[in-house]
Order: sequence, then C-alpha cells, then structure tokens
Amino acid sequence: MYQLFRKFLFLFDAEAVHYFSMNLLKLACSIPFIRKLIHHLYSVNQPALKKKLWGLDFQNPLGLAAGFDKNARYLRELETLGFGFVEIGTVTPLPQQGNEKPRLFRLPADKALLNRMGFNNDGAKIISARLRAWRSDHPASAMIIGGNIGKNKITPNEDAWKDYEICFRELFDYVDYFVVNVSSPNTPGLRELQEKEALRKILTHLQTINTHQHRAKPLLLKIAPDLNQEQVKDVIELAIEIRLDGLWLPIPPLTAKD
Ligand SMILES: Cc1cc2nc3c(=O)[nH]c(=O)nc-3n(C[C@H](O)[C@H](O)[C@H](O)COP(=O)(O)O)c2cc1C
Repeated sequence: MYQLFRKFLFLFDAEAVHYFSMNLLKLACSIPFIRKLIHHLYSVNQPALKKKLWGLDFQNPLGLAAGFDKNARYLRELETLGFGFVEIGTVTPLPQQGNEKPRLFRLPADKALLNRMGFNNDGAKIISARLRAWRSDHPASAMIIGGNIGKNKITPNEDAWKDYEICFRELFDYVDYFVVNVSSPNTPGLRELQEKEALRKILTHLQTINTHQHRAKPLLLKIAPDLNQEQVKDVIELAIEIRLDGLWLPIPPLTAKD
C-alpha cells in the first residue's frame, strides 16, 4: 500500500508533495480520534529513551532537522508522530521566497534529496508569533523546539551578525535552544561566515546577549560537512572559547568505498 502511494506521489514535484502530505496529516490530526490513533501508533513513551541534555528534558532522542518545518506550521502533527524535538527554520529576519522552483530534487537510487531551497521562510516576526500561539495553546507539550537562525540573502556578510541577533531576540522566548546556521550552500557567501573571525563576531555577540538573559538558552553552531581539518580545528577552538553548547555537523552519506 505504502509503495503504491509512494509511486503515485513521486509523479509530482517533491516540494509540492511535501506540503500536500503535511497538510493531509494536518487535516487528519484535526479530528481528535484520528490524532489519538496516530499518536498511539507512532509515539513511544519509554522512560529509557528520555534524555536530559543542556538542562532540557527530551522525551526521546529522535528529532527532525531544520528544513522540514521551516515555518513552524506543523508542530502539532510532528508531536503526534512522536518526535522528541523539532528544529524549526532556518529563520531569517525578513520573509524571503528562496530560490526559483523547482529547487528540491529526489535521488531515488540514493534514497536522498537534493536541496537548493535558499532559506525560503516566513521571516522571524511571523514565525515567532506562530510559536507564541503554539506555546500558549499547548502549554503541556513536552516536545523540544529548536530555533535554527540564518541571514537574509540581501544582507551583506559584514552585517550578518545583525540578522542573527534579530532572529535570536525575536525567537528567544519561544524556542528551547538555538542553532546558528552558517552551513548552507544555497545562500551565496553564507559559508564564508565559517571563517574564524567572522564566526567569532556573530557568536560572541549572540552569547553576550544570551548570558544577559534571565535564563540563557543552549547555543549551537551548524557547520557544513566539507570543512577541511584546519577549518574544523578553528571551529572547535572557537566553540570552546565562546562556550558553545554543541556543534551540528551533518555527516556526508557513506559511499560503497566507505
Ligand atoms: C529540503 C531540505 C531543506 C533543508 N533546509 C535546511 C535549512 O533551512 N536549514 C538548515 O540548517 N538545514 C537544512 N537542511 C539540512 C538538514 O537540516 C540536514 O542537515 C541535512 O538534511 C542532513 O541531515 P540528514 O543526513 O539527516 O538528512 C535541509 C535539508 C533538506 C533535504
């Protein structure tokens, strides 16, 4: 049944199918009985899977990386499916369209997706309003929400720190942890921010704001998987110096050689 459904969906554009599927799930979850059924079938409540990290209580270690729910529109559905955490974003200060479509491509033989989205998102203001509504409507939700933040395409790199600050302040009250994303190849020049001094400026600034809050939020950095040894060493030294809580390093897929 699933194989048949999958074959059918694969006839259409990958991005359109993503939203179609999630909106279908949203519709299903709007019926309390069905939502309870899905939750019962897919979620796990195993004390052994619970994990405390950075002072946060994760119900389980299975999370959804940034890019799936960029605009925080599907939190209830993802919680129903049993995710322990969801990282929303990447969020930029201003809304932006992202790259021209098509920009998401299936690689069926590799069981993978090729992403050239370009940080399409509703912008920090709208997304923080959505998160505020989620927090007030679901005060008992135990799902951890991470805020993955980036810069707008039109912002020059020397002003990037301002974009990260805007997103950080805007989302601060509604997310449980932050990820500073400098990893995307789809925003021209973004990866240059992985250079040590550029990173130091952004991260020191955010960490200073963070430590002046009533309760600081865990701050992580997401870097690209293809930095060389020297660059990784720089990033690690900086992470220790600035007391980051973690590094988010996507692992490149293994090939037959590996
Ligand atoms: C369609 C798509 C959109 C993505 N968008 C973002 C994004 O906006 N921000 C980000 O930090 N990572 C983004 N990613 C990268 C994922 O968060 C993740 O790092 C990547 O898929 C590697 O993890 P995986 O091996 O589990 O897929 C995106 C990935 C895909 C496939």
